[in-house]
Amino acid sequence: MSITIAIDGPAASGKGTLARRLADYYHLAYLDTGLTYRAVAHRLLEEGGSLEDEAAAVDAARRIDLGNLNRGVLSAHAVADAASRVAVFPEVRRVLVEKQREFAERSEGAVLDGRDIGTVVCPGAEVKLFVIASPEVRAGRRLRDIESRGGRADFDAILADIKRRDERDTGRADSPLRPAADAHLLDTSEMTIEAAFQAARGFVDAAMDANY
Ligand code: DC
Repeated sequence: MSITIAIDGPAASGKGTLARRLADYYHLAYLDTGLTYRAVAHRLLEEGGSLEDEAAAVDAARRIDLGNLNRGVLSAHAVADAASRVAVFPEVRRVLVEKQREFAERSEGAVLDGRDIGTVVCPGAEVKLFVIASPEVRAGRRLRDIESRGGRADFDAILADIKRRDERDTGRADSPLRPAADAHLLDTSEMTIEAAFQAARGFVDAAMDANY
């Protein structure tokens, strides 16, 4: 069965974990669209270009291959911040959105997560989830994640970083982070991953029953 699940939300809201679990459970293809913006930023950083150079960012976006996104390299902290900066350029978004739509359309059912999936990339998705959690909870999760991999970080610095990225992602003119009118809101602040997954499953199963 072909179903598209669109998952949006701010950084560290838990949307990626949820998206992966749903994709596994329903045997759907999965695309983390944040990686596409990260890949553009990473190219610019590697090539020594300026993050303000829109033409270079568009050129980098055109060269992105969705089949070749290296999560390990792209998960670096500096890349995340740079990604939210190149994500304000409308032409970069147009190029990446086209690739993301192609992925959704050629897959036999797909889960995509990002900031504008329900509103722009897949407005016709059968299920839309908008995943949120308080900035403090998200910073705590990020900190534990870094520490569990042997790294060290400062809670206040992470919190400031998360707030700065939220502001940029919700405040930009083109495709800002916001819930689609028909999105289900999932606040994971007080939820375990398992509870969030079960709640999301409820929405997906209901949509499947309604559609087939
Ligand atoms: O989800 P993430 O943290 O990997 O995303 C990195 C940045 O990319 C995010 O701060 C904003 C941008 N982004 C976007 O503008 N639209 C998307 N669909 C996904 C990510």
